[in-house]
Amino acid sequence: MSKILVVGCGYVGLTTAVGLAELGHRVMGYDLDTNLISRLSSGVPTIYEPGLPELLVKNTQSGVLSFTSSVTNEGPDFDLVFLCLPTPSREDGTANLTYLTSAVSQVRILLTEHTTVVIKSTVPVGTAKLIKSLVPEGVTIASNPEFLREGSSVYDFFHPNRIVIGAQGRVAPKSLLTAYENFSVPIVVTSHETAELIKYSANAFLAIKISFANELAFLSERTNSDIDDLIYAVGLDTRIGINHLNPGPGWGGSCFPKDTRELLATAQKLGVPMQTLQAAVSSNERTMEALAGRILSLVDSIETTPVVAILGLAFKAGTDDVRESPSTKVAELLSGAGLSIKGYDPLVVKSGSFAGVLCSSIDECLAGSHIAVLMTDAEEFRVIDPTDVLRLMVTPQVLDTRRILGAASWASSGITHHSLGFQEV
Ligand code: UGA
Repeated sequence: MSKILVVGCGYVGLTTAVGLAELGHRVMGYDLDTNLISRLSSGVPTIYEPGLPELLVKNTQSGVLSFTSSVTNEGPDFDLVFLCLPTPSREDGTANLTYLTSAVSQVRILLTEHTTVVIKSTVPVGTAKLIKSLVPEGVTIASNPEFLREGSSVYDFFHPNRIVIGAQGRVAPKSLLTAYENFSVPIVVTSHETAELIKYSANAFLAIKISFANELAFLSERTNSDIDDLIYAVGLDTRIGINHLNPGPGWGGSCFPKDTRELLATAQKLGVPMQTLQAAVSSNERTMEALAGRILSLVDSIETTPVVAILGLAFKAGTDDVRESPSTKVAELLSGAGLSIKGYDPLVVKSGSFAGVLCSSIDECLAGSHIAVLMTDAEEFRVIDPTDVLRLMVTPQVLDTRRILGAASWASSGITHHSLGFQEV
């Protein structure tokens, strides 16, 4: 059993803390936010993540997991200190490391020759070197990027595809290997620089894959092809793979947009063109603009101010996170064009960035609208009753960007049904 301090209790930190505690380690979560810490200490999760509440309660009650908003050198002698701080984009696209460096100065007092500082945050190449220069002599640094998806981060923690460890001389610290001893997946031990770049490369490749799938969806519309059969058949080639090949309204969230910006900015600084990634980013912007354009054309003939019902406000289903959500962007474009916007999401209770009225149910959102646009594949949307749509909407038409509604049954119920990736009928 290792003694572990997790610094930063956001999505990554909290999942990591809970996961490591569940694996049998003694874990303390540290965050400056006293409100967050008091909620977590009483077993109340501060983020929506399936599976997290149960593990949080179980491990705080058994005493292996605790939280604090202040650290002193009188506390335990930690074997591992995980840094799980946000690295948001700066104006120029590069990652802002201020939260990370400031966290290091807060916990510096605890670090001894016995401690390994583990960088979990997504950080640009060179960050491990920077952190090394900020900690006392003799402290070991490891780069250990996370690959957790929001909405399934607890599952991902316990079922990784691989564990990546960047270390001085490619020798993984024993204490970190011990922390992961329960996993039987490949452990890639490499240099710090490689580990740092692996994380960005993985996210960038997934973003490229989705952008390509989105372009195929537009091409399918023009060629009267079936996009679902197309991506299924293409993805069955194991060299390509079916995952992250599902077309939609564009990729968003707190990771892909930020990480692609950082990788592009770094590559540009180093004089290495990354044209494929640049094209994927532009393509993603175009996907959202094209979607807004399609909505505008579908309500073009309406004589009053068209009302658009946006179903799904988070950047994907299964999370309440609205950061860089395609819905926010599309709503902004439509609102800018003079349309009236309403929105609903089963998990989003507030969204400062949404350019519309936030509704508390699907029915409230559909009422009085001229088009409903499905932006995420939330379970609640899969079972929308067409008779409710007919009853509530002024002009019953639906645009399904995730292709979760059975087109045939919807069309037969008298609703105009459009699907991203399918020709207008
Ligand atoms: C992503 C990566 O998947 C994680 O491996 C990584 O650890 C994480 O970023 C991170 O860097 O922390 P996440 O942002 O939670 O995870 O979400 P994804 O499930 O990857 O989805 C990202 C965006 O792509 C969403 O807008 C989603 O709707 C879109 N997407 C995803 C598609 O449009 N089609 C797909 O087939 C998959």
